[in-house]
Amino acid sequence: MAWTLAVASLTLAACGDGLDRADADNVEAVALGQTLYGQHCAECHGAALQGQPNWRTPQEDGTLPAPPHNDTGHTWHHPDSYLFGYTKLGGQAMIPADYKSAMPAFQDKLKDADIWAVLSYIKSRWSDNSRMRQERLNRQG
Ligand code: HEC
Repeated sequence: MAWTLAVASLTLAACGDGLDRADADNVEAVALGQTLYGQHCAECHGAALQGQPNWRTPQEDGTLPAPPHNDTGHTWHHPDSYLFGYTKLGGQAMIPADYKSAMPAFQDKLKDADIWAVLSYIKSRWSDNSRMRQERLNRQG
């Protein structure tokens, strides 16, 4: 009995509320992240992470369309801490005040562990090369 409980709590710590980093090799986190991505991100960033059309061209209101989160975008050019902040606090909080961002903040909708799960899913879709290069950025801090 005690053994079962210990295993259960270990499993929870590994994949549930305890998630505190983006881990593309964590199967549970990636699966949860895929569901959350479909619910919260796909409408703008695309069901296949392809982004919105002409995502480099500013729109009439001055904002940029949502960029892809796959290898063709620049998500993997940023360390995990930046991606986490961008998702939690929104684009406006992360960039100069004279720039207008259409990326909403998710701090009222997603727990920190959920944000890490979504980022785990996004990272799991990158090529080995992109993952390796982004990991180097993470180590630089
Ligand atoms: C209402 C549309 C919309 C939704 C929904 C949305 N985003 Fe975004 N996102 C954007 C836009 C637009 C940008 C471009 C940012 C800018 O111009 O500041 C962006 C940028 C980003 C960036 C920065 C990428 C980079 O390369 O700089 C991250 C990370 C990101 N979004 C993650 C997410 C995640 C994760 C979700 C779901 C939880 C999500 N977004 C949902 C519109 C959206």
